[in-house]
Amino acid sequence: MGSLSRDDASAHWANHDLGEVVVSAKEISDRVAELGRQITLDYADRPPLLVCVLKGAVNFMGDLMRCIELPVEIDFMAVSSYGAATKTSGVVRIVKDLDLDLTNRDVLIVEDVVDSGLTLNYLRQYLGARSPRTLEVCALLLKEGEQRVVQSLRYVGFTIPAHFVVGYGLDVNEKYRNLDAIVTYVGGA
Ligand code: IMP
Ligand code: MG
Repeated sequence: MGSLSRDDASAHWANHDLGEVVVSAKEISDRVAELGRQITLDYADRPPLLVCVLKGAVNFMGDLMRCIELPVEIDFMAVSSYGAATKTSGVVRIVKDLDLDLTNRDVLIVEDVVDSGLTLNYLRQYLGARSPRTLEVCALLLKEGEQRVVQSLRYVGFTIPAHFVVGYGLDVNEKYRNLDAIVTYVGGA
């Protein structure tokens, strides 16, 4: 948990909607580098296929893959919970599916945030049915105490309090994905 850094505070155009900095840009980049080092070690003999869950994980994916020193492959899928509410409905719609075949691949799902866990639960079943050799999850954020389904998360960047946050890929009504830090959202819904 950090205070406003110069970079974070420079988002003057968003300040009226933003509260506390939950994870600063520096904390993110340090932790992403650590995760990359760990993944490099764990997957040394079997470079993973990284599956980015759009759109929220796009910043994380871009930074994380540059911290992995292996010949990884990447693919993207887009899912959306119905509606624009700040709570998930648990009903997931596949908006864009993968291009690559998962058969016998070591697949690592790169996700922005696990809140109820319903989205990830759905994705694991959906991708697990395609015969990957292994299927693991790297989530940037895990919301404390919010999970409604049990998840085994191989990698977690940060465990955060159960507040709605934006920035570093996370949005509210498609905005604020371009903030460098992860910040609580205090604007009107
Ligand atoms: P879950 O299904 O409840 O785990 O929610 C997962 C999805 O809801 C995430 O992948 C995000 O797209 C979205 N989400 C959950 N919490 C937040 C948040 O605090 N800010 C922005 N999006 C969120
Ligand atoms: Mg997401």
